[in-house]
Amino acid sequence: MSVAAVVLAAGKGTRFRSDLAKVLHPATGRTLLRWVLEALRELDLDRVVVVVGHQADDVRREAEAAGLDGLVVVEQAEQRGTGHAVRRAVEDGALDRVGTVLVVPGDSPMLTGDALRAVLDAHPGRAATLLTAHLDDPTGYGRVVRDPQGLVERVVEERDATAEQRRITEVNTSVYAFDRERLAAEVGRLASDNAQGEEYLTDVVAPMVPAGVAAVSAPADVVAGVNDRAELAAAAAALRARILDRLMLAGTTVVDPTTTYVGADVVTEPDAVLLPGTHLEGTTRIGRDAVIGPDSRLVDTTVEAGATVQYSVVVGASIGPGATVGPFTYLRPGTRLEARSKAGAFVEIKKSVVGEGSKVPHLSYIGDTTIGRDANIGAATVTVNYDGFDKHATVIGDRARVGSDTMLVAPVTVGAEAYTGAGSVITRDVPDGALAVERNDQRIVPGYAQRRRERSEGRH
Ligand code: UD1
Ligand code: CA
Repeated sequence: MSVAAVVLAAGKGTRFRSDLAKVLHPATGRTLLRWVLEALRELDLDRVVVVVGHQADDVRREAEAAGLDGLVVVEQAEQRGTGHAVRRAVEDGALDRVGTVLVVPGDSPMLTGDALRAVLDAHPGRAATLLTAHLDDPTGYGRVVRDPQGLVERVVEERDATAEQRRITEVNTSVYAFDRERLAAEVGRLASDNAQGEEYLTDVVAPMVPAGVAAVSAPADVVAGVNDRAELAAAAAALRARILDRLMLAGTTVVDPTTTYVGADVVTEPDAVLLPGTHLEGTTRIGRDAVIGPDSRLVDTTVEAGATVQYSVVVGASIGPGATVGPFTYLRPGTRLEARSKAGAFVEIKKSVVGEGSKVPHLSYIGDTTIGRDANIGAATVTVNYDGFDKHATVIGDRARVGSDTMLVAPVTVGAEAYTGAGSVITRDVPDGALAVERNDQRIVPGYAQRRRERSEGRH
């Protein structure tokens, strides 16, 4: 019989005090819900049922964005408790023809595929298998009550627990495997006569004991539920540390893990170096021997072998082998720096190609431009690409030398090996090998300083 997961993601997350549903808050580049779905992806289940309620449309979209096979979304219009959420999945037929149900809370981003698999592996032959953990501080969690022989008896919520039960350090993680028939029967019988007036899923455990209930223990660092923003920050930090450990063990140097932020989908190659203050987001990839940072943010960017990026912001760009970026450079989407090219200090580049070995060393704006090989763009050059209505292209040929403070009014082409004089406003194409100068003749006024001094002294 098949296995289906039920992800509980309908709650508002009152303790977040947020307009955004709790499971949509991000931690280290993924929403809480997405982390849970990625752990489930590793199990390759036939069906993944996500129960949505608060901000149902947005949560549904986020669930769909994960692209899991067999996704089913169920609405729990009124959030009457975790047991009620599972009851809604049963009533909707989402668990029809399923043998085992794996329940997973939507607010536990640290869960791993391994921990979930352990519950399923231990489950056969029983009515319920709980994933529990021993926590130094169990505050806030449901406690696992065992009988004198050590067998699971029931789960009691903290707010309903006696002082003695609160001293129990074994907690319910809200991950369980259930026999589908028994689960369906028990969620149909739940009462809400408890401290929170809710249908607790935890209450299905006690009546299943005669049919066999056991627990599997998970390490404390995979089970934490996120109920408020302090717990969110703690979970994000732990997930970040987990990602950095993985990268370091695979051969990337991370000089200071406490100030380095790397998203879950980032790839780095061996001998890449991440200096303090590095933020790598989205689908960023860093090649061998590349050095990133200090203090740089790269989003959806590819950096090839041996390139360097320091004190810069780079979004949607591709940086070729041995290229150098920074300090204080802004590369925007569609920028491609070819091998050994340079984007230097206070340079912004958008949707442009900088050819092999070409340099934009200082204080320039380059947009909608194609630069050939080994060209040099003088300081303070601006491609004037926008006339207030449309964007226009600039083409700069191989080995061209654009003089400092040139305005290249697009559409315009500077030919191969052509020059522009410093301070020129170039509005017409410059042929290959030519010099274009657009500038008034310089006027010399001899003796000016002397006359000026005399005039000023005459006034006193
Ligand atoms: C729950 C467990 C508790 C366990 C803890 C582990 C119950 C009654 N308690 O408590 O034993 O130690 O998780 O983290 O189950 N949800 C719905 N519909 C609802 C209510 C909640 O989908 O009507 C979802 C929430 O969005 C959330 C998850 O279920 O993702 C857990 O709900 P939450 O209110 O956070 O439960 P806890 O108080 O943490
Ligand atoms: Ca919770």
